[in-house]
Amino acid sequence: DRTYRIAVIPGDGIGTEVMPEGVRALHAAADVYGFELDLIELDWASAEHWKAHGTMMPEDWAEQLEAVDAIFFGAVGWPDVVPDHVSLWGSILQFRRVFDQYVNLRPVKLLKGVRSPLAGREPGEVDFYVVRENTEGEYSSVGGRMFEGTERETVIQETIMTRTGIDRVLRYAFDLAERRPAKKVTSATKSNGIAITMPYWDERVAAMSESYPDIDVDQFHIDILAANFVLHPDWFDVVVASNLFGDILSDLGPACVGTIGIAPSANINPEGTHPSLFEPVHGSAPDIAGQGIANPIGQIWSAALMLDHLGEAEAAAAIEEAFEAVVAAGDTRIVTPDLGGAGTTAGLGRAIADAINHPAVVRGRG
Ligand code: NAD
Ligand code: IPM
Ligand code: MN
Repeated sequence: DRTYRIAVIPGDGIGTEVMPEGVRALHAAADVYGFELDLIELDWASAEHWKAHGTMMPEDWAEQLEAVDAIFFGAVGWPDVVPDHVSLWGSILQFRRVFDQYVNLRPVKLLKGVRSPLAGREPGEVDFYVVRENTEGEYSSVGGRMFEGTERETVIQETIMTRTGIDRVLRYAFDLAERRPAKKVTSATKSNGIAITMPYWDERVAAMSESYPDIDVDQFHIDILAANFVLHPDWFDVVVASNLFGDILSDLGPACVGTIGIAPSANINPEGTHPSLFEPVHGSAPDIAGQGIANPIGQIWSAALMLDHLGEAEAAAAIEEAFEAVVAAGDTRIVTPDLGGAGTTAGLGRAIADAINHPAVVRGRG
């Protein structure tokens, strides 16, 4: 049965602006590739819900979402209304944990027609994945405040890494590298300074690499790795990192290839025991929200990752070809300001949907 039940959660800020363009791309792909969409739009995981109910989500959110094939998410966070740690721990971070979406897959690719801030880099030279551990590590709620209001005021927050938690994300990264021509895994740690958890991660990488003799394994401390993203982005194929390091690298990577506005992510539960979630890497961008100028490609590319996950590989590839062709054509009336143009969210979204419907026309133009 090729009917997909998808929860659509726009969230806050530009999440509500880019989501309609993600949905437009999904509908275009469904028309061309002949599958059906059953979209369930939900207005929770938003500051609006917080204002109305004092919670980010209804109590039965998990039951509601367990029933869908995938979750299509925009962005959440509106610090003027609700503190960020409250809104994020009340929404996206819950989805990742409760649904055991332990892989956060974030592609980094220099597209034709996009000017990278790195001089002299050509499309094709930079094309890798950040595989971010997504359920444990530095994002932990173990810890607390002590001696509050005194000079001894102290805060503690523990990093938690488990053998199962590390091994399962490493296995995903190594399996992904097996399917790629370069067959290379780069691991990000900081074992010189963070001398308990990080050396343990390194140990698990060494153990895992024994089962993958044909994979070339490399490791760096996070500081120099960040520098090498800028200096040698062509070195990377699959970069695997803890929750926090993966978070940082997955904004840095897209910045190196032009804009975080195009970066997508797949929060995956590989066993399929819970729904996976697809969202742009970026947040709600209060600084540009309401102007209609946010780049919708992060959302649209996330739609492609979602269709691929649902088994619609051809439709997924068609969406990617469509936005790549539109960006390559480089019409400054169409592309958004982060790509050097004067276009709008809706204008770019419509151009991409047209390209999905009429691939040959755009290819000719590109
Ligand atoms: P952000 O990603 O929202 O914005 C960072 C910068 O990138 C801003 O200058 C913004 O204008 C720009 N930008 C982001 N997306 C863009 C797009 N599609 N097109 C053009 N420019 C774009 O990060 P922030 O400012 O640190 O966070 C804002 C809010 O979003 C906070 O509440 C934060 O917690 C939240 N946030 C949520 C998610 C998520 O839902 N997964 C991710 C990151 C941040
Ligand atoms: C991301 C975001 C989130 C994270 C925030 C909003 C909690 O930055 O998805 O990258 O740190 O995971
Ligand atoms: Mn982030």
